[in-house]
Amino acid sequence: MSEAVHTPRVFSGIQPSGNLTLGNYLGALKRFAEAQENGIESIYCMVDLHAITVWQDPAKLANATRELCAGFIASGLDPKKSILFNQSQVPEHTQMAWIFNCVARMGWMQRMTQFKDKAGKNAQNASLGLFAYPALMAADILTYHATHVPVGEDQKQHIELTRDIAIKFNNDYGVEFFPVTAPVIEGAATRVMSLRDGSKKMSKSDPSDMSRINLTDDADTIAKKIRKAKTDPEPLPESVDGLEERPEARNLVNIYAALSDRTVAQVMDEMGGKPFSEFKPMLADLAVEKLAPISSEMSRLMQDPAEIDRILADGAQRARAIATPILQETYRIVGMVGA
Ligand code: TYM
Repeated sequence: MSEAVHTPRVFSGIQPSGNLTLGNYLGALKRFAEAQENGIESIYCMVDLHAITVWQDPAKLANATRELCAGFIASGLDPKKSILFNQSQVPEHTQMAWIFNCVARMGWMQRMTQFKDKAGKNAQNASLGLFAYPALMAADILTYHATHVPVGEDQKQHIELTRDIAIKFNNDYGVEFFPVTAPVIEGAATRVMSLRDGSKKMSKSDPSDMSRINLTDDADTIAKKIRKAKTDPEPLPESVDGLEERPEARNLVNIYAALSDRTVAQVMDEMGGKPFSEFKPMLADLAVEKLAPISSEMSRLMQDPAEIDRILADGAQRARAIATPILQETYRIVGMVGA
C-alpha cells in the first residue's frame, strides 16, 4: 500500500562503537557511495544513541563518532549530496522511539537475535536500551518515511521489525502514514565473515583484532591479517559450487569479488584452482590498493575535528527539517494535545 504513495528515500545508520571494519565498508559504506549517484535523497546517521546501549567511554565515543563521519566521507559520501549527521542531534528519533515502544510487542522484541547475541547468557544484566534498540532503529527509519534501507545481512531482522511496527501503527490508528520499508541487501559481501572463523560475522566487537580488517589498519597489518586468515589446506575449487562447504574460502572469494566490483563467478573464472599461497597475496594487494586511500583520507579529515562537527551540525539541521513535520503528524494521529 504505502510504498506506492511515498517518494523513494534512503536511510541507513552505523554505530560509532569502535573501528570501522571491512564488513562495514563492503556491507554498507561502499554501497552507500555507489547509490549516491542515483539521485534519491539519502540520509546517513552515526547512531551514537544506539552505541550507548552497551557501555561506551565518553571521550572514545565522541572520537569514534567523528572518525565514523570521516569514514563516510573517505568512502565517497559527499555531505552536500547526502545528509550526514549524528543521531543525538535530532531529538525526533527518541521521541518517535517512545511511540514505537508502545506499538512494538514484547514477544517481537524477545525474538531479536542481535539482542540474544549481545546480551549473551547474562540477559538480566543487559541494559533496557539494548532490549529496546530495534524500536529506536525503526524510529530512525520511519521518522524520515524512508522507503529503502541498505544494510548488511545481519540487520535484516531489524528491518522486518520496522515493517511490522509501521503496519501495526497504520492499522491501529486507521491511517496509511508510515511506509513499509524495504531492506536493500545486495552484492557479494552482505555478510563478511571473521578471518579466524568462517562461521562468525566479522565484527568490531570481536576480541581478536586478527579476526577483522579495520579501515584504519596500515598496509602491512592488512597484508599480515590476510596471510594469517584461517583457510583449509585445499586450493580454491574450480567453480562457485565448490565453495559451498568451504566457508573460509568462500569468505575470501566474496571479499575479493566485492573489492574488485566483480561477481563471485567472474572471480572463480580467474582464480579457480589457485592455491591460497597464490590467492592470498593477490587479495592482500587488492585490499591495500582499495583501503589505503580511505585510511589516509580518514586521518587527514581527523586533523580538523571542527570541520567534521560543522558537517554533522549542518546535516542534523537538514535532517530535522524532514523529521519535525513527520513527528508532529505522528503525535497528532496518536492524539497528543498541542501537536
Ligand atoms: P552496525 O553499526 O553494526 O553496522 C553498520 C552496517 O554495516 C553492516 N555490517 C556488515 N555487513 C557485512 N558484513 C559484516 N561483517 C558486517 N558487519 C556490519 C551492517 O549490516 C550495517 O548495515 N543497528 C545497526 C545500525 C542502525 C541502523 C539504523 C541501520 C541503527 N539505526 C537504521 C539501518 C537503519 C547496526 O548496529 O549496524
